[in-house]
Amino acid sequence: MNKLLVANWKMNGSVALLREFSDVMGNPNIVLALPYILIPIAKQLCETANIGAQNCSEFRGSGAYTGEISSDMLKDLGSSCVIIGHSERRSLMHESTTSINAKIKNALESGLKVIYCVSEDFEKQISGDMDGIEDISNIMVAYEPVSAIGTGKTPPPNEVYDIALKIHRILETKILYGGSVSCKNIMDFCSLDSIDGVLVGGASLKIDEVKSMLLQIQKTI
Ligand code: PGA
Repeated sequence: MNKLLVANWKMNGSVALLREFSDVMGNPNIVLALPYILIPIAKQLCETANIGAQNCSEFRGSGAYTGEISSDMLKDLGSSCVIIGHSERRSLMHESTTSINAKIKNALESGLKVIYCVSEDFEKQISGDMDGIEDISNIMVAYEPVSAIGTGKTPPPNEVYDIALKIHRILETKILYGGSVSCKNIMDFCSLDSIDGVLVGGASLKIDEVKSMLLQIQKTI
């Protein structure tokens, strides 16, 4: 199987930028994790696109939760997955273990796949966030050291290789690497057999860069 490229647009992008991505959206090796409001537009541009969100509500079902977006709504709009537990949300939005745990459960119940992010503190994070979650078949883990996110400083691939194995011993599922991945270093990580793909922030906003990354991972069969 080819390695996966998950593009995390964070709070970036526009309809115009999305249009630039029209011809890569149908590629089965890329998932676009978009701001909520761009999700239906992406589905209009490419019905088969693999679209994800970057968050969902910790509240289940529907109701009086002003400003919240539920996992059911994401499913209804055509999302196939959702990123949960990103370190920016843990620190800037003060997401707690309890809320991350609820979000994961909600997403799974709605039939979404979960891209569950952990960082250097992965052992502690996993033990709390995954409480009561037994079926992990629809969960992928993204290992993203905080020191590598947006800094241009990636850890040595052999270190990532070892950490991915450690995580895999705790959660036997697919493991992605994230943090300053670009077209220059993507194969440092995608050539590791303990890594199933990458979660890319900044570099995923540039179409030429994304095309180059896709070409490289398509050679990883
Ligand atoms: P970056 O972000 O690629 O810009 O470092 C990755 C992420 O935060 O998912």
